[in-house]
Amino acid sequence: MKTAATFLALCFLGYSYILSVSCVEDVYEYLWEKNKDLADQILNLDFLRQMESGSLQAERYVNFTIQDIGYVLEVTKMLKSMSTKVSRPDDIREFMKGRFSSYKSFGESMLRGYLFKAEPPIQQTPAMRNYLSSYRKLMLEEPIYFAVGLLPCVRLWVWLANNLNIPPTNAYFTWKVDNMGGHPEKHYKALLNKYLNTADKVAKANAVFREQMQNEHDFFSTS
Ligand SMILES: *[C@@H]1O[C@H](CO)[C@@H](O)[C@H](O)[C@H]1NC(C)=O
Repeated sequence: MKTAATFLALCFLGYSYILSVSCVEDVYEYLWEKNKDLADQILNLDFLRQMESGSLQAERYVNFTIQDIGYVLEVTKMLKSMSTKVSRPDDIREFMKGRFSSYKSFGESMLRGYLFKAEPPIQQTPAMRNYLSSYRKLMLEEPIYFAVGLLPCVRLWVWLANNLNIPPTNAYFTWKVDNMGGHPEKHYKALLNKYLNTADKVAKANAVFREQMQNEHDFFSTS
């Protein structure tokens, strides 16, 4: 018992101060919990609270949607490049290929949904330019960090959709329904937990995750 208690105490200290990796059993959850403060801030931004109350100006939502389409199209291009560039390990290559094909069909369905015949040229806002340039920097790192960089958006939007109280009579109900059912853990959890296996890697992943979460924040706060 004494040994277990001592271990737990050390583990707690390690977890809080030095990221002792032996204690971070689930890096996937750890990254989310460590950055939950930003998710909470985002949930409370006026853009999302006005979606919830149904008072968000329609033109603001249109601008946001156009930027979102631009985001999906650009990230798809980066995933295309990552999926040809990464040849091993097999599971990371398959992850990139799978995400590329999923983003590609999502982007195509968005374009079809708004009757675009081809990719529209979209002027990115400064916040979106910054977000995409963070992604481009990640393309130069070990591929696992590009996977980490994709996750904040994926996990955040599911969480926002589930945490905003938007009834079926609200104009933004379809946004909620389209986003509430995602299961990011299916694609990310095992991969991140496998490869982020040292304290240094966890710390670096946390820095990447936080930067991308901040980029999400800036996208919503300027929309
Ligand atoms: C939409 O974006 C354009 C370009 O940034 C801006 O001029 C316009 O004011 C925005 N509309 C709204 C309602 O925010």
